[in-house]
Amino acid sequence: MTKLLIFAGSTRQQSFNRKLAHATAAIARDAGATVTLLELSDFDIPLYNADLEARGTPPDVVRLKQLLWEHPAWVICSPEYNGSYTALLKNTIDWASSPVNGDPVWQDGTRSFRGKVVGMLSASNGALGGLRSQSHLAPLLINLECWLAPRAFALGQAAGAFDEHGALVQEAHRQRVQGVVEQVLWAASRLHAGDA
Ligand SMILES: Cc1cc2nc3c(=O)[nH]c(=O)nc-3n(C[C@H](O)[C@H](O)[C@H](O)COP(=O)(O)O)c2cc1C
Repeated sequence: MTKLLIFAGSTRQQSFNRKLAHATAAIARDAGATVTLLELSDFDIPLYNADLEARGTPPDVVRLKQLLWEHPAWVICSPEYNGSYTALLKNTIDWASSPVNGDPVWQDGTRSFRGKVVGMLSASNGALGGLRSQSHLAPLLINLECWLAPRAFALGQAAGAFDEHGALVQEAHRQRVQGVVEQVLWAASRLHAGDA
């Protein structure tokens, strides 16, 4: 079974993207994946500063690097701020991709990213569903040597898209998410077939 990591680029309590991450996790479990649902609020990661880093990479950054590395497949639920992805997502990825000097394992900054198969989702209450955040996130992930699933989905009018249990109301939305999940799992199982 492919290990799938799902996380949202928001820590807001009522976040649409966190809701989408939870709904995606349920869909992925039904599809047979072993799912880790990661909350970025569980990581004590400061705003990136190279002087701070020179005094020692925060332990939670190393914990995050390890988690990312352990999962060959990811789904990222990306909110849209000003036509792009959030500072939280950028800061998290910057830390996770920054080499840990002198560390034999983590001095390779892209180790946690290289070869990962990533599905991009987004949610917004606007009509475009945060789609523009994906267009900025894609080149960042490719730069880190991730493989992006050609399928993606942007959930618009997100305020009315979930029921009281957090499930997607519309079957069409559910199917779009499932399509992304299946493609990510399909590609990851082939690209990582020889992994230990
Ligand atoms: C600074 C800022 C800029 C935003 N820009 C956009 C935008 O460009 N497009 C959009 O659809 N929503 C935009 N929004 C609204 C967010 O999509 C909305 O706050 C959404 O709920 C954030 O995702 P979350 O629910 O997962 O926290 C913006 C919100 C903030 C705070």
